[in-house]
Amino acid sequence: MAHDDVIDPGRLPEEGAFDDQIRPQRLEDFPGQEPIKEKLRIAIQAAKGRGEPLDHMLLAGPPGLGKTTLARILAQEMGVDIKQTSGPVIERQADLSAILTSLEEFDVLFIDEVHRLNHAVEETLYSAMEDFEVDIMLGKGPTARSMKIGLKPFTLIGATTRQGLLTPPLRARFGDTCRFDFYSPEELECIIVRAARILNVPIESDGALEIAMRSRGTARVANRLLRRVRDFAEVKGDGVVTRDVANAALKLLRIDDLGLDDMDRQIISTVIEKFAGGPVGLSSMAVAVGEERQTLEEVHEPYLIQLGFMKRTQQGRVATPLAYKHFGFTPPETEQPRLF
Ligand SMILES: Nc1ncnc2c1ncn2[C@@H]1O[C@H](COP(=O)(O)OP(=O)(O)O)[C@@H](O)[C@H]1O
Ligand SMILES: [Mg+2]
Repeated sequence: MAHDDVIDPGRLPEEGAFDDQIRPQRLEDFPGQEPIKEKLRIAIQAAKGRGEPLDHMLLAGPPGLGKTTLARILAQEMGVDIKQTSGPVIERQADLSAILTSLEEFDVLFIDEVHRLNHAVEETLYSAMEDFEVDIMLGKGPTARSMKIGLKPFTLIGATTRQGLLTPPLRARFGDTCRFDFYSPEELECIIVRAARILNVPIESDGALEIAMRSRGTARVANRLLRRVRDFAEVKGDGVVTRDVANAALKLLRIDDLGLDDMDRQIISTVIEKFAGGPVGLSSMAVAVGEERQTLEEVHEPYLIQLGFMKRTQQGRVATPLAYKHFGFTPPETEQPRLF
């Protein structure tokens, strides 16, 4: 496996079974994202008390932070079923209508990548969300007519990594938005210790913290690094994940103290060396480092920005003085005079 898969916060093909094994099932079992959980506990209790479905809800944030997991937990806590699909998969209005009409009362419909619904499908969703109704076309050609069909009250949970790409009418139909934050090292430590317990991996708390510090604030990365370190511990040590074992394993994976990999380092050095610190546009950067735009935008940049190494400006990406310092470059002597 290429080392850069290690920090990919998306799900890798071989991770399915592993995911299901360690996915938290209840709200109390889900470490971190405290403000979101607080809000949801109240929403769940209130909806149950009134005998209503949960409000439609948008879960927004970078990949690997637990959006899908939380959607499932919500259904579980409400005691309803969840149907899961994703924006690009629903191609025709009829596909969406079929899913909607199959929902039982208060069920959750989870649409991942909800910003990628096509226009016609999205329009169908509006009346479904607002009035629990869909228009269904009967027949074809000139004799075709549409008929309104009532739906059972349901909850739409949409997830998106790109909240900015949601259309205003769709956004307006969600009762609430939960914005996921990167996890703190302490929260990731909890996540790692919990996963280690489920997987029967002996781990010392120093070892867990070491992995946590290098997991880019991302639950999925933490769990993945735990698995890699476990392999290393079993092959090179006595199976126990200690701080030293974690360190040695992560060194082998070329992940540094901050969780940065070769591509992160290459991005920063490219901005500094080839583009004089920036601003540089996303496309030029993608060509210069040989990586896809989407990967840069969704995987590398959010974390580099979070660490304060990079800024996104109207003109493009800029390396910060902190980045110059951390990566051993000499910052430009004087600040450029500001023209605006
Ligand atoms: N708060 C958490 N605690 C423990 N594990 C988590 C948490 N959030 C996510 N995970 C784990 O991380 C992985 C990615 O979560 P997922 O819900 O698929 O993220 P997203 O949908 O935001 O990309 C899953 O294996 C999940 O079990
Ligand atoms: Mg997901």
